Amino acid sequence: MQEIVIRRPDDWHLHLRDGAVLKGVLPETARHFARAIVMPNLVPPVVTAAQAGAYRDRILAALPEGATFEPLMTLYLTEGTEPADVAAAAASGLVKAVKLYPAGATTNSQSGVRDLDRVMPVLETMAEIGLPLCTHGEVTTPEVDIFDREAVFIDTVLDPLRRRLPSLRVVMEHITTEQGVAYAAEAGEGLAATITTHHLILNRNNILVGGIKPHYYCLPVAKREHHRLALRRAATSGNPRYFLGTDSAPHVDALKEHACGCAGCFTATNTMALLAHVFEEDGALDRLEGFASLHGPAFYGLPLNDGTLRLVKRDQPHAFPEKIFTEAGPITVFNPGFPVHWHVEA
Ligand code: DOR
Ligand code: ZN
Repeated sequence: MQEIVIRRPDDWHLHLRDGAVLKGVLPETARHFARAIVMPNLVPPVVTAAQAGAYRDRILAALPEGATFEPLMTLYLTEGTEPADVAAAAASGLVKAVKLYPAGATTNSQSGVRDLDRVMPVLETMAEIGLPLCTHGEVTTPEVDIFDREAVFIDTVLDPLRRRLPSLRVVMEHITTEQGVAYAAEAGEGLAATITTHHLILNRNNILVGGIKPHYYCLPVAKREHHRLALRRAATSGNPRYFLGTDSAPHVDALKEHACGCAGCFTATNTMALLAHVFEEDGALDRLEGFASLHGPAFYGLPLNDGTLRLVKRDQPHAFPEKIFTEAGPITVFNPGFPVHWHVEA
């Protein structure tokens, strides 16, 4: 039997939704994670400090008895966002980041940004106060192939923005390409990149070969194998520029197994066991704690968690639930397609 003990981890990119889905999925994250950066792409989106405060209250009210979990709130950047509202939300400690969705890039991004010039006053305020911008880094230009959208975003949006506003702190969310890995490696201290669990496991063949797998479809879509390998090298490198953001994104099965299926992999339930598998496979178990528990707080300027998580490798594979059942319907848990022998022990 092999075991490791790490400081309790955080998830630096998480979708919790609202109502019945929130109630169903929150225990899955709170079981292992102390904190999470909570995405604001509800319908309607979480745009103002008042909306973020109300959403935080609904999350805390949905926590199971005895659970300790701190939601770290974000605001959804729109072309109508008020710099003063963002500054007040940050000063009060309520809001830890602002999320940039290019309009049309992904689930519930219709209210996102079409013209970056229109949000420059907000971004300038954020740069002054040190509030990070979390970016969904894909262009939405119809002519750009979906597999190229991240690389084109880096060249045509992210890099020009950082030249214009070098002091803006930026998180490249859920990077999926060699170009994303390289950009983060070369950037200075004010930039970091999150990596999801599923992008360390999937390439695009997994989605498409032998029949379409709707539960492997997410955005940014998984890329070619060499990109996945670059993500593995980055995550397991020990470089503090990279840390865990699961992008666990629950949708009920009826909306995933659909003629126009929603994007998102639901990994909250088994992420830590899967990461132990991945890091062990790459001979980097000793770097899992950095990726999941240390680099994120360092970037966000937050204290490390108290408490630990114990991961144990057993002969018997982990029997993950196939689905979790919410009052809105069943949600399929990410199935990596191979046996996982790591278990998270209480
Ligand atoms: O796969 C995804 N699902 N990517 C996103 O960017 C959004 C997310 C969601 O909210 O479902
Ligand atoms: Zn997301």
